[in-house]
Amino acid sequence: MSKYTRAGQYVKSNYPIYLANKPIHQTSLSLDVIDKFTGGVVSKVPMADKDIIEKSIVSSVNAQESMKNMSSAKRKEILLNIANEIEKRGDEFAKALVVEVGKPIVDANAEVGRCIDTFTNAAEESIRQYGESAPLDISKRNLGFSGITKRFPIGPISMIAPFNFPLNLCAHKIAPAIAAGCPFVLKPSDRTPISSLLLGEVLSKQELPEGAFSIFPTTHEDASILSKDDRFKVCSFTGSPAVGWKIKNDAGKKKVILELGGDAACIVDSDNSESKLQHIASRVLFGGFYSQGQSCISVQRVFIHDKHYDQMKKLLVEGAKPLQARIGDPMDPNTFVGPMITEGDAARIESWIKEAASKGANILTGGKRINNIFIEPTIIENLPKDTSIACKEVFGPVFFIERFTDFRQVVQRVNASQFGLQAGVFTDNIQKAYYAFNNIEAGAVVINDIPSVRVDSQPYGGIKDSGFGREGIRNTIEEYTELKLMLLKDVGNQ
Ligand code: SIN
Repeated sequence: MSKYTRAGQYVKSNYPIYLANKPIHQTSLSLDVIDKFTGGVVSKVPMADKDIIEKSIVSSVNAQESMKNMSSAKRKEILLNIANEIEKRGDEFAKALVVEVGKPIVDANAEVGRCIDTFTNAAEESIRQYGESAPLDISKRNLGFSGITKRFPIGPISMIAPFNFPLNLCAHKIAPAIAAGCPFVLKPSDRTPISSLLLGEVLSKQELPEGAFSIFPTTHEDASILSKDDRFKVCSFTGSPAVGWKIKNDAGKKKVILELGGDAACIVDSDNSESKLQHIASRVLFGGFYSQGQSCISVQRVFIHDKHYDQMKKLLVEGAKPLQARIGDPMDPNTFVGPMITEGDAARIESWIKEAASKGANILTGGKRINNIFIEPTIIENLPKDTSIACKEVFGPVFFIERFTDFRQVVQRVNASQFGLQAGVFTDNIQKAYYAFNNIEAGAVVINDIPSVRVDSQPYGGIKDSGFGREGIRNTIEEYTELKLMLLKDVGNQ
């Protein structure tokens, strides 16, 4: 692939960063943004140095009171304005995602749509932050007591976002902060800063209190200030488990929210009619391969009941074949699989597939790396348990299939993983659906769809190595607020 550039065609050649709501066009450090399809540099973005980071923290501390005192109506208005502005500029946002992530345009448009939902949902939740009234005269010792609870913004929040959904995963951190009344400092991935800086431009035009937000990439070393500095009350991180657990260790007294990896499993149970199998196969193919499998909830492990195994295998392999012809320029609306985020990631996945084959796995379709940066949609069978694909998160367009006969045992098989983010269960049997819900170790169990679905208002997050805490607007607002009680004695009794 030649490193030709399409700078100026879809994205601008420069974007400012944002410090205390205002653009900064130049700093001592600069970051090249690569078009993941062409390999060429398309944009340059300034990076924050230590001085800018310090200023961003001071201004977010200073903005605390005014953010807290903003009325619910104002928060709602601002969030709706942001949603409207993203909608108006949807094409610009989507093309930036295509260029900086290599995300196929269809998926990029979907991410923009989800981001609009995220801000809209935050606008709705911003006026719904109710407390409780509690009768606290629970025994003779507490006669006369009652209570009222209310949630208060926790204070400045640091946010570290990943490359794979650089718009909507930033929105999942930013929108609840505005709804809750918390100032914030956000660091996007240095591979994909453009969409969050476009979001910064939209935010900078809103009537947010001075110093309410800063958005900038930094060096990895300086990013640790965001997790360590005690002036932040929460650090919200989405990314790899290795970095996430280090952040938790470094976080001191602040709360952490960690959205980490996954190796999502999907069960295809015996209690599905034959007529559903085609639909299930196309959902599994989508869940395994959309956005090149670069999602924490992309399908990696597919457990198929013996009754449907041969038919499902045939449908999956047949369904994957036409997708091999739809690898290419993510800007082309016909493309289904774009480039991996880096050549190194493509090489790693290729080596994991080779390792699986060398240990006896059957590569049913795909398996090759093309033009260094693409991985063919790959389905594997008979995968030994000691292979990388069986034990680690692939984060690529690869899944394996495995036969089962006993539903309870397959639930244990799903749980035999370091991760626990989401699982999918296709079954028409309500008993099994509930059994799966009660026994699968994950943040969510999706019934009758793939584990890769996420509704942006749902509680989202995992257990085990998948993380800590929940996102999803209402849940994130809870994480960003402190519950306070007014304990009342003999009030209203006279
Ligand atoms: C993730 O990779 O965790 C995000 C998935 C999504 O929001 O769809």
